[in-house]
Amino acid sequence: MSGGETISPASAVDVDRLWRRHMELAQIGATARGGVNRQALSPEDGMARVMLLGWAQARGFAGSVDPIGNLFIRRPGRDRAAAPVVTGSHLDTQPTGGKFDGTYGVLAGLEALEAMSDLGLATRRPIDLVVWTNEEGSRFRPTTMGSAVFAGALQLERALSTTDAAGISVRDALARTLSAARVEGRRPLGFPIAAYVEAHIEQGPILEATQNIIGAVTGIQGLRWFTIEVLGQAAHAGTTPRHKRRDAFSAAVGMIAALERLMLDDTDRVRFTVGHIEVAPNSPNTIPARAVFTIDFRHPDAMALASLGDQVGAICRCNAKGCTVNVRETIRSEPATFSPEIVSSITTAARRLGLPHMDIASGATHDAKFMAGRCPTGMIFIPCRDGLSHVEEEEASPEHVSAGTRVLSEILIELANSAD
Ligand code: HGY
Ligand code: MN
Ligand code: MN
Repeated sequence: MSGGETISPASAVDVDRLWRRHMELAQIGATARGGVNRQALSPEDGMARVMLLGWAQARGFAGSVDPIGNLFIRRPGRDRAAAPVVTGSHLDTQPTGGKFDGTYGVLAGLEALEAMSDLGLATRRPIDLVVWTNEEGSRFRPTTMGSAVFAGALQLERALSTTDAAGISVRDALARTLSAARVEGRRPLGFPIAAYVEAHIEQGPILEATQNIIGAVTGIQGLRWFTIEVLGQAAHAGTTPRHKRRDAFSAAVGMIAALERLMLDDTDRVRFTVGHIEVAPNSPNTIPARAVFTIDFRHPDAMALASLGDQVGAICRCNAKGCTVNVRETIRSEPATFSPEIVSSITTAARRLGLPHMDIASGATHDAKFMAGRCPTGMIFIPCRDGLSHVEEEEASPEHVSAGTRVLSEILIELANSAD
């Protein structure tokens, strides 16, 4: 252990406590098929925050929130004025999500702090456990909303006025969540952070396929989200001839087909997904007046992210078939590279703990991408069964959950006691 601490917090990571908390949290928003539906700023999201705060406050860790509801739980350091080391992830899930996406990073962070307290290990810097608001972007677009607002990549007011399908705003849902999960402390957006490390399941098959337990994440691919609204004219399905139609859904289908052709690459590096579509009035015998669909486009190369993403609007307008097209890019994040020093520390800690490890790039997006431009940043991956995530069958093992947490605990204490 570098940084002056001889006892490793890894030795006090309590896998039973950690696993039990995963199972308890998974009860909040539990689905009939063993998954979790705990969407951003829902009552379930608030209940999960209350449960987490209960565990944290039992250890004397105090909570604070910033204007977009990012929750920070502090383990104090000797130097109260020092910028904190931050770890954490998110508690919101996909509608048919699993027990580990996001939740693992939050509980691993709490467990690392508790292990330090169990051993009475002091740190120079405070360590904050963060719960980012609305990482998934499923109920309220875009994804990684809380960390984007924290980092200044998304305007606070624009985020607060975003509404869900029922017309409920982030502002109103956040007020309800914060009154359920009340904390005294307040934090400004973008306060200085000394370093950020997030633990997460890989959400892909590589670690499992290569029999590695720890992934030292080198970076995250770039991402661009768009919402495309197509406005046509409702009319009778039986009496309206083709030349008089302005069919919004038919135009949307043409746009999506043209975009699929654009995004087809023989290296299979482009990730292009239309995951959400709405049609109105959504009646079998009325020609659709309005269609809305989302685009989730990702690429590891900044040039390709720019060149392909910049064609989306033109392709949609070329296939408008007489309809009006509104193209809105809701978020863009460039490919992020993590700190080589932190990648190397993760590798060293994994080796010290006798854990098979590898460097790995992240196909999934994470709040860490917005920290990479602000402070030394890294991520620790553990395997998930069959590489599955964003599904109710998402699974990880107690052994791997514990291993990633032990590595995290060592990295955190090293960063919190480093001289710089
Ligand atoms: O979409 C993502 O990559 C993340 O898992 N929410
Ligand atoms: Mn996640
Ligand atoms: Mn996710």
